[in-house]
Amino acid sequence: MAARGVTVVLMVGLPGSGKTTRARQLEAEGALRFSLDEWMLPLFAGENGTRQRDTLEGRLIWAGLRAAELGVDVVLDFGFWSRAERDALRHLFAAVGAECVVEFLDVDPTTQWERVSRRQVEAPGDTFAMTRGELDHWRTLFEVPTAEELATTTNGPPAGFLTWSAWAADRWPSLPDQGR
Ligand SMILES: Nc1ncnc2c1ncn2[C@@H]1O[C@H](COP(=O)(O)OP(=O)(O)O)[C@@H](O)[C@H]1O
Ligand SMILES: [Mg+2]
Repeated sequence: MAARGVTVVLMVGLPGSGKTTRARQLEAEGALRFSLDEWMLPLFAGENGTRQRDTLEGRLIWAGLRAAELGVDVVLDFGFWSRAERDALRHLFAAVGAECVVEFLDVDPTTQWERVSRRQVEAPGDTFAMTRGELDHWRTLFEVPTAEELATTTNGPPAGFLTWSAWAADRWPSLPDQGR
């Protein structure tokens, strides 16, 4: 079990919503920050495939769980577009004794495009290039966290799974089933 008072923050939001900027603030306050793109870019030479992302996310979640158990605050800066992902991780981190909070950053489409295009010019090595059409499409896939979601901590895993841990190991095959 984690030492008392360990906090794990899930950064939730679309590209350009300010997740990594906020995650760096939490890092400055002492959290171990895992920003997915910082690992994707050097490991996979700019390839942004689903398989690579899922593999990397699973292993970073695995490391984050261990860090939380050791008493280290963690920030997972992956975006987490789906509620099931967020619910699974809230459950898994709670099971090691950490307080797991969703931090959702909203951004309107115009501001988003301004930020993403500026970032592409100012820091091209830190991010994947994206088009306005991609941003518009991704917005349709993103499940905005509701007040009901944030207030709920006890819902069970999706149909077909006995535990959230089994669901998570299916969603992220590089994350071993924690048996919870
Ligand atoms: N609250 C904010 N106000 C204005 N600009 C911001 C804000 N948060 C982030 N930015 C800028 O917007 C761009 C995208 O932010 P970033 O943190 O990289 O977003 P994300 O990690 O969600 O894709 C960066 O250039 C950043 O400096
Ligand atoms: Mg980012």
